[in-house]
Amino acid sequence: MRALIACLSLVVATAMAPQPAAALSDDALYRALGEKAGIERVIETLLHRSLADPRIADTFEGANFERLEEKLVLQICELAGGPCVYDGLSMADSHMGQELTTAHFNALVENLRAAMAAEGVGFRAQNRLLALLAPMHRDVVTKP
Ligand code: HEM
Repeated sequence: MRALIACLSLVVATAMAPQPAAALSDDALYRALGEKAGIERVIETLLHRSLADPRIADTFEGANFERLEEKLVLQICELAGGPCVYDGLSMADSHMGQELTTAHFNALVENLRAAMAAEGVGFRAQNRLLALLAPMHRDVVTKP
């Protein structure tokens, strides 16, 4: 009986915990992105483009780029089904107080698509990754 109660509490606790975006269980997308090295190139290009983008450059003022780059790579690698474990902040916590709008979000997504295209990632793989990121809109965008 005690074991049953312990088991049930675990199920309830797991169900109530905030759930991060579900990572893919196969690694096809991870491979299509060029594995860890490919993802690192995409993120580097994404950050370069975003810093040169007048629509969103200001939002990165004072950011810790080394950390941001490292955490983004881990996050994308894990989401895409790669052998990484994201250990950064939740999307809600890391973007809290930044007052990001849907226009900011769309600009970043556009830069990510361009970065993937520049690194030779195919259109289908681009769409798969963007579809995994789309639900994060509700945690990242806090300003109407
Ligand atoms: C799906 C969309 C997004 C994803 C997946 C994402 C991912 C991340 C990650 C992983 C971090 C680091 C968390 C940590 O430090 O532990 C972060 C922080 C940050 N993100 Fe995003 N982000 C998104 C959208 C945006 C947008 C739209 C902007 C601005 C245009 C933005 C600007 C920033 C900034 C400025 C930081 C904080 C850097 C710092 O304080 O050092 N993010 N984001």
